[in-house]
Amino acid sequence: MQDFTDKVAVITGGASGVGRSLAFALGRRGAQIVIGDVDSAAMEQVSADLEAEGIRAVVAHCDVTQLESLNSLADEAEKAFGAIHLMFANAGIGAGESGAMWDYSDKDWQWCLNVNLWGVINSIKAFMPRLVALDEPTHFVITGSGNGALLVYPDQPIYTATKAAVHTITENLHYQVQAGNLKVKVSALFPGPHIVDTGLFNSGRVRPEALQKDSKGNESGINSVDDMKRMAAEYGIELQTTHPDEVAEMAVEGLMQDAFWLLKTTAETDAKIRARTEMIMNRTTPVPDQVGG
Ligand SMILES: NC(=O)c1ccc[n+]([C@@H]2O[C@H](COP(=O)([O-])OP(=O)(O)OC[C@H]3O[C@@H](n4cnc5c(N)ncnc54)[C@H](O)[C@@H]3O)[C@@H](O)[C@H]2O)c1
Repeated sequence: MQDFTDKVAVITGGASGVGRSLAFALGRRGAQIVIGDVDSAAMEQVSADLEAEGIRAVVAHCDVTQLESLNSLADEAEKAFGAIHLMFANAGIGAGESGAMWDYSDKDWQWCLNVNLWGVINSIKAFMPRLVALDEPTHFVITGSGNGALLVYPDQPIYTATKAAVHTITENLHYQVQAGNLKVKVSALFPGPHIVDTGLFNSGRVRPEALQKDSKGNESGINSVDDMKRMAAEYGIELQTTHPDEVAEMAVEGLMQDAFWLLKTTAETDAKIRARTEMIMNRTTPVPDQVGG
């Protein structure tokens, strides 16, 4: 897709972070934006900011854990702007887990699986039939994470599990559209190359009442990228970060080339991916610092 003028782009989790930046990157190129999110305050803000830039947009409440909510978002998008050309299954949360996974509350697992995994499954169910039926060049973009898809960071077992599953779903979706000779292109978006400065580390702000934390002992103590920077500094490490606008630009450039991998890495990450592959080929026992995060 070379020209985004008048195209309709739906973005879940578009009120903050990567999704918000995608909305502006595409809106500034003439696309019509539909955002689905659950964070009312951030939704109001993004709505006002898009309007201030003259970007045509609808910002609606949509909980990706509920298929019906995504069906309604798709209906709303079509009603406002017509057929959907770009779907970004982007909403995601960090469960904030730490410590031994056998001590985690089921609610931590449920919340993260509901949003990160079922959110993607529901997005596919609600939007793919519409993109397929349109029979025009369209894109279905799923936001994954190198943490789970490419590497296994040792401290976030729940998040990693969801993103590993999300990646296999994304790759299979890509194979299925190819097998069906469909006009939908599937892409895997990996925010990076460094930790992206977003609200992900403060996901508790949108944690549903029914799945509030009910156990102690799994508090990571990290609620923002600044917390991470501080913690890294204690170990003498200067944590580098990426602005979400950079991720959005990388994604848009990749979409213009119909790329599957919307992935920017560092030399360090590349080395870890190579080491991990070699570890598998050589049946070497994993060592987290060498092949994980
Ligand atoms: N920040 C990073 O370093 C990083 C790295 C790799 C992958 N990611 C992924 O990027 C995606 C976007 O996250 P972000 O980093 O921009 O964080 P963010 O918190 O800034 O944005 C996520 C958005 O999702 C929304 N959301 C949460 N639960 C929802 C639900 N049930 N229904 C609808 N919306 C919901 C939030 O309200 C928020 O607006 C996520 O899938 C995340 O896993 C982020």
